[in-house]
Amino acid sequence: MIELKNVSFTYENKTVFENLSLSIKKGEKIGIIGESGCGKSTLLKLMAGLYRPSEGTILVDGESESAEIIKKVSAVMQNPMLLPLSIVDNITMGHDYEEKKIEEIIEASNLKNWIDTLPLGIHTYLGDRSDNLSGGQAQRIAIARAMFKEAAVLLLDEPTSALDADNCASILEAINRFTSDKTVVHVTHRKEHLEGYDRCFLMKDGVLANVW
Ligand SMILES: Nc1ncnc2c1ncn2[C@@H]1O[C@H](COP(=O)(O)OP(=O)(O)O)[C@@H](O)[C@H]1O
Ligand SMILES: [Mg+2]
Repeated sequence: MIELKNVSFTYENKTVFENLSLSIKKGEKIGIIGESGCGKSTLLKLMAGLYRPSEGTILVDGESESAEIIKKVSAVMQNPMLLPLSIVDNITMGHDYEEKKIEEIIEASNLKNWIDTLPLGIHTYLGDRSDNLSGGQAQRIAIARAMFKEAAVLLLDEPTSALDADNCASILEAINRFTSDKTVVHVTHRKEHLEGYDRCFLMKDGVLANVW
């Protein structure tokens, strides 16, 4: 459940939203579209607990404090951050894991073919700033990390923007499979990626208009 009540948000002196309200039920799949710069990423960062509203309140699964919201949410943001750790540590973020679960996730996020070519496999060290990775590999690791966390809420900010069409279709299918019982908010430029979603909103001038 995500509840935004009369939320306003201002960067320095740029107001992105005023009095925005939105209620998303547990398990609902919500799409958000809109032109570049309209505030989609800002809205997801507010829902992720990374930004605080300038005014109004945000509740995620009943939590209003950032530190608690962050625990409830998995997010794939536009420029995924990878750490100078192994592939598997980037996916699990240091949590315990079962081999089988990691294998499933690596398969689902289309990382398997690439990882199979690496002598150290999932234990390959990614290096500082991970500049040995392509944008698509980094994005798929971020998707694998979100799948691993199994949080109640999944926030996706153009999660397939760096992927080719084949990767994109199979990863969208895998995301849908992994999140069938989760609340999902998916920002995209491609309305066709929102097939089967419960609702879709167009963000414009700080307002969310219902598309379906
Ligand atoms: N860190 C920031 N500081 C100041 N302005 C920002 C910052 N991030 C985004 N903005 C501005 O806020 C508006 C919304 O940005 P954003 O949420 O990234 O839009 P979208 O994701 O829809 O492209 C834009 O006008 C953008 O320039
Ligand atoms: Mg954005």
